Formats: sequence, C-alpha cells, structure tokens
Amino acid sequence: MSETPAAPVKVKFFSGEDIPLELHKVRIVQKLYLRPVDERLKAMQAAGFNTFQLSTLDVFLDMLTDSGTNAMSDNQVSSMLRADDAYAGSQSFARMEAAVREVFGTQYVIPVHQGRAAENVISRAFIKQGDVIPMNYHFTTTKAHMEISGGKIFEIYTDEALKIKSSFPFKGNMDINKLKALIKEHGAARIPFIRLEASTNLIGGQPFSIANMREVRKVADQHAIMVLMDASLIGENAYFIKQREAKFKNASIKDILLTMCGLVDMIYFSSRKVSSTRGGGICTNKKDLFLKVRDLVVLFEGFVTYGGMSVREIEALAVGMYETTDETVISQSPSFIAYLVNELDKQGIPVVTPAGALGCHLDAMGFLPHVPQKEYPAGALATALFIISGIRGMERGTISSVRDDQGNDILADVELLRLAFPRRVFTLSQTKFALDRLTWLYKNRELVGGLKFVDEPTVLRFFMGRLAPTSNWPDRLVKQFKKDFGNSL
Ligand code: F0G
Repeated sequence: MSETPAAPVKVKFFSGEDIPLELHKVRIVQKLYLRPVDERLKAMQAAGFNTFQLSTLDVFLDMLTDSGTNAMSDNQVSSMLRADDAYAGSQSFARMEAAVREVFGTQYVIPVHQGRAAENVISRAFIKQGDVIPMNYHFTTTKAHMEISGGKIFEIYTDEALKIKSSFPFKGNMDINKLKALIKEHGAARIPFIRLEASTNLIGGQPFSIANMREVRKVADQHAIMVLMDASLIGENAYFIKQREAKFKNASIKDILLTMCGLVDMIYFSSRKVSSTRGGGICTNKKDLFLKVRDLVVLFEGFVTYGGMSVREIEALAVGMYETTDETVISQSPSFIAYLVNELDKQGIPVVTPAGALGCHLDAMGFLPHVPQKEYPAGALATALFIISGIRGMERGTISSVRDDQGNDILADVELLRLAFPRRVFTLSQTKFALDRLTWLYKNRELVGGLKFVDEPTVLRFFMGRLAPTSNWPDRLVKQFKKDFGNSL
C-alpha cells in the first residue's frame, strides 16, 4: 500500500456536515494557557498593543504565522538524528539536494538561513539602482530587500485581487496586459526579473494558475526576462490548482509542482513555511544564475552545503520537501481555513473569499467601519481579538506599511487581520472557539476603537513598534466581555 492515498482527500460525512478532518494523530503535545480576560488585557498593554510583542505564555491559540510553527512529522523529527555535522560536503546537504531535485526538478540548490536571506542574496545579485521589478504582489521582507538594492516594485495584479468578497479562484494571477505595458514603458533592460509569489501572502494567501504562469513565461521569453518564483507557499498553491484549475483535476501534486517549477528560471523559498522546518533555499537549472548567487551565499550565509542552517534542519527540510507532494499534508491548513472562512461568511462577518492558504483573513475595514484607516483598524482588531480570546493574529494592513517622504502613512490596499493555521497544529474545536469569539466580537464591534504609534522603528516597524489605544476602549470591551461571559475564560 502506498503511504500517500490517491486524491481526493476530502472526506464526506454521513450527517452531511461539511467539516475538515484531521488526517494525522497527535503524538506530542504542548500545554496551552488560556488566561483570564484581565490578565490578557494586561499582557496586551505590556506588549504595546502589538501582537509580535506578546509572550507565548499569555497566548492561547498562536495564529500569528505558520512560519516555523507548522507541526513536524515523525519522519522529520527522526531524520534530524542522522544529521551529518560537517562544514563542507555534508551528507545532510546531499539528501536536501536530492529532495529538491526530485520535488522541484532543479539541478542546482543552495541553502540559506531563511526566506529573507534568499531575498537579500537575489536582490544583490540581480538588481541595479533604478531597476523595475514586476510582481503579482509584494511581501514585506521582499519589498524591503529589493528597495535597498535600488529596485522599484510594481504590483500588477488583476482587478479581482483586492476585492474582499470574490469567487475568483486565482486572485494571485498577474495581469498580463499590465505586464506588457510595464515592459513597454520601462524597457526589458531595466527589468532584472519578474517575480511570482505562490499563494500570494498579503492579499490573503491567494493562488495563481498554471495558465497564468504560462502567459507570464511567454511574455518573459519574448523579452528575454528571467522569471523568479517565491515558493514559500508553493504546496498550497499546487493544491488549489488541483482543486480549481480544471485541466489539473486528475494530476498528482507532484506533477503540478514540477510543472510550476518548470515554468520559471529561479526559485527561492522559506522552508519555515514550505517544508515545516527552518531555513530556506535558492534553486535553478541554470548554471550561470546559480553561480551569481552562490558566491553571495558564501559571503553572507555560510558554506554552500549549509548556508547558515544547522544540518539537523537540513535533514528535516529534505523530508519536508517530499511531504509537500502529499495531498493529505498540504490540504490540512487550507481545509481548516475554508471551514472558518465559510462559517464567518455565512454570518456576514467580513472575510476574504475565496478561502486561501496560510490563514483566515478578516477584513478589518469591513469589521470596524467606524475606525479610520489612519487609526489602524487591522491592528485594533488584532488587539481586541486577543483581549477577548487569547488568540494571537497578525496585523496585515497599514501598520505593516511604511511612511512616505513627508512622514505620512502610506495606507495599505487592504486592512487584514490574519489568523494563521500552521499545518496540523489546531483542532476543529479550537477552530470553533475562534469562530465563537469572532462572532461575539462582531456583535460588539462598536466597542473597538483605534490605535496610534507611541514608539515607531524606521524599518519593518510592525515587528518592534509600540502602540496605544486612542481612547479607553479596551476597558469597555473587557467590561462587556465579563457581563456576557461571567467567570468564563
Ligand atoms: N516570502 C513569503 C511569501 C513569505 O511569506 C515570507 C515569510 C518570506 C518570503 C520571508 O521568509 O520569514 O523565512 O525570512 N513569511 C512569514 C509570515 C514571516 O508570517 O507570513 P522568512
């Protein structure tokens, strides 16, 4: 019997209930703390109303991110014991190389310590001052690295991408006409590469289609421009292709991954996401491209057979790579997200649809229409949800943006509160708890007010910045919570 059952992995319930099913057993557990509401308020105050600053001792469901928090499999953990500690020529690296060759179909692979390290190296290797970089959408660290290297980013998404409510299956697609116009305007010589981000993170974990990738490839070939793929969330993007792109309905995830990777010149990834471990990598079939990044990896990351990663992590990465081709693994997070998104949507609670990868994305401007965007509705919603539930989400709105030259906030396209579902970490009853508390919060949304910065770093301010509420609204929220829930946590 094959270890990987044939698709589809969806299980139908006799009762007719449409709920996700955990296709694994839990063998190692970690205790969680659900603190009383007064303690949660105190923890939030101490954290400067920034969920990045909370201690996990105060957090019940940590839905901040899937980065480095996906559950590892038994095979991944056990592989770490056979790590071959060597500065150069480690067998652990040989196993990683073999895994990436098989799963992505790329000959050359080089480890780096995490996704943004790949972005640093690639930006330095290929971007010159004044260059133009088309992409379906930016990611925070991507944009920061590419701009430091002198590049200017152009996001050329389709009209559907930023609509909160949509049934468009591929909101991560690139708009081909806009891509052609951009190349015409700036000239191919100023475009070092076109970047495609799988399961586009900041617009709600939304995938692109292979049909769209093929169109991008065609335009790139006409102008001899390189195509770069951020594959940090490639497994989920492949899963959505199988679900939503008719041509690939019967294809295996393995074949879909190989098709995707075969359409680009270079791939990089954060293995904190794609293979449920730590680290990252850069891969390609083109020797000239490989050599350009190789020398920078040696300079910034470490020798080419470890690239800043521990060999134990490299072993787990290799196993995680193979597991990315297993539909029972990569379908887990999307199916729990779909459950929460669809239940919220049924109640009219504003949430990004269709459900995507990585997390459930609440539309904070729809949820809190009375909070002006300059008072950071997504940050306010993250604060309020933590206080009333102990659930830690991540602001993905204007706090995650930057200021312009005059010091004004550049308002984000969308104000989202992301509730991440790391792979195989949360159960259905925990998901139902999140649904229940969000429902209560929506009914009491008028109690939630805005936030303002009191300490604001100049780079990636959302990580370390400290904020304060614009009024004493958190106290009012706690009062109402106690009225409705009594002594309940
Ligand atoms: N690219 C994408 C699409 C990402 O989602 C991330 C990280 C990175 C690059 C950078 O990788 O963290 O390993 O340096 N995303 C995390 C998140 C941080 O929470 O979404 P890294």
